[in-house]
Amino acid sequence: MKEQDIKEVIKERYGKIARGEVTFCCPSCGPTVADQSLAVGYSAEDLELVPESAVLGLGCGNPTALADLQEGETVLDLGSGAGIDVFLAAKKVGGSGRVIGVDMTEDMVAQGRVLAEQHGFPNMDFRLGYIEQLPVDAGTVDVVISNCVINLTPDKLASFKEVHRVLRPGGRILIADLVTAGDLPPDVRASAAAWADCLAGAMGKEAYLETIRRAGFSEVTVVSEFPYEAPGMDERLRGKIISVKVRAVKGQ
Ligand SMILES: C[S@@+](CC[C@H](N)C(=O)[O-])C[C@H]1O[C@@H](n2cnc3c(N)ncnc32)[C@H](O)[C@@H]1O
Repeated sequence: MKEQDIKEVIKERYGKIARGEVTFCCPSCGPTVADQSLAVGYSAEDLELVPESAVLGLGCGNPTALADLQEGETVLDLGSGAGIDVFLAAKKVGGSGRVIGVDMTEDMVAQGRVLAEQHGFPNMDFRLGYIEQLPVDAGTVDVVISNCVINLTPDKLASFKEVHRVLRPGGRILIADLVTAGDLPPDVRASAAAWADCLAGAMGKEAYLETIRRAGFSEVTVVSEFPYEAPGMDERLRGKIISVKVRAVKGQ
């Protein structure tokens, strides 16, 4: 599959989700979007802090819980969707901090902007763009977070190099993502729908960590991990999909 074709399939899927035309969890859902969010690590208190329409059940972790965000920091959320983690980060960095959400799907960005305005968050900035060419100046970000998105990017080394570029020296990443253990069935790897499901593009865990190192990061550490299981999941994938939270640092 060509890189641009994969991106178009993903944009179409997430555009429909943003417009409320379909409900979907990445990669598969519990009975409700809220159940899915609790299962991947959000607390009930977290969900109360976020506008309901920003909670779409698309994450595979809760990156802001592990990012040790400090008042006044500038945070960038890659593939921010409607903004669940942008809202949680904005509460933590406060009025003196700033949170930028970047997403390539127009309706996700539009939804995030509307919610930020409605809920009075001037320190949030939703930008349309690709992770591989971030619309963010070099060396301006303290912390990059992301939730179940890098698996969707066809060129993960290019994505992590871009992240490295926008971070200030000493800046850090806290990425929640899906990786694989063992081989996925070839029909899953070849399926455009499985790309959009956050499955086909997931890398093996060790290769993923090595890609982050090759992009220039140090102290690459798996902070937590658990096997991703959900009702309705393809039985052949059980035990092969892992939700990881990875921390790493850009050297001084
Ligand atoms: C699985 S959803 C996660 C959304 C959000 N992080 C959350 O937890 O609700 C993936 C999001 O990443 C965006 N995305 C995927 N690939 C991207 C890329 N290469 N550049 C920018 N955004 C991308 C999609 O448009 C979608 O909104």
